[in-house]
Amino acid sequence: MDAKTFLKKLDSISDIPTLPTIVIKVNKMLEDYDTTIKKLSTIIEKDQAMVTKILKLVNSTFYGFSSKITNINHAVIILGFNTIRNAIVSVSIVKAFSGERRLEGFDIPDFWRHSIAVAVTGRYLSEQSRLDAPNDCFVAGLLHDIGKVILSQYFPELFEQVWRSIAEDGLSFYEAEEALLPVNHAQIGGYLAKRWRFPAGLIDSITYHHTIRKSLPNLNQLLIVHTADSIVNNYKADSGIPPDFSSVNPEAKEALSRQLESVPGWFPEIAPEIDSACEFFLDEG
Ligand SMILES: [Fe+2]
Ligand SMILES: [Fe+2]
Repeated sequence: MDAKTFLKKLDSISDIPTLPTIVIKVNKMLEDYDTTIKKLSTIIEKDQAMVTKILKLVNSTFYGFSSKITNINHAVIILGFNTIRNAIVSVSIVKAFSGERRLEGFDIPDFWRHSIAVAVTGRYLSEQSRLDAPNDCFVAGLLHDIGKVILSQYFPELFEQVWRSIAEDGLSFYEAEEALLPVNHAQIGGYLAKRWRFPAGLIDSITYHHTIRKSLPNLNQLLIVHTADSIVNNYKADSGIPPDFSSVNPEAKEALSRQLESVPGWFPEIAPEIDSACEFFLDEG
């Protein structure tokens, strides 16, 4: 199967979880210059379960706002349209892709724990480096590997081949994909993100997180996601061995050199934030 046939097949799958109407409505409203705070709040308030979740998210310790936010109107005023969109997207996507279907070797809760760790780490890197909006980096980290879920659920034979090759040939997930598939999980995720009309920077961060391109307009967000992914994958607590960042892209190494040098100092400190984010996203479905 070549890349084109693969993506065509992806296109024809009709039961790929569709995003809740609220995400589509909010994305659409944000493209429209006439959207007011009141209009946006009214739409969100129609979905009370969403309101509860968003308020809980924006008031949580790992989301990084210090003042208490008590209603959606207030949330939109204080946090802005984009942050509210990010909150809605985060909550909806984790929920849509936390289904029961699982394959040997691929555990959905484990997958989300990795993604949440990359989200929190990305947020931290952006706060420290001031290279991009912390909130945008959180969502990009959360969704960077979403293509893996699609692969596991809709192309199970291919996914199993990849998994076998990881176990038998000692390859990384990405290396095994490169050897076996016409497209990799990053491209699959990016393709969907585009279909969901996500912002361009988010689409690029998903699509290129293993293959950085210097020419991208939102390069900083991409460098942060790529680096956060590498930190989460390579840092082994209590091992006493300094983490190996030789696979980090040189561009990212330069942009985030200070943060990379001090990983053993700060990474263990954000562990509680990662835990509470996992609790928030994974506990109550
Ligand atoms: Fe990845
Ligand atoms: Fe990853």
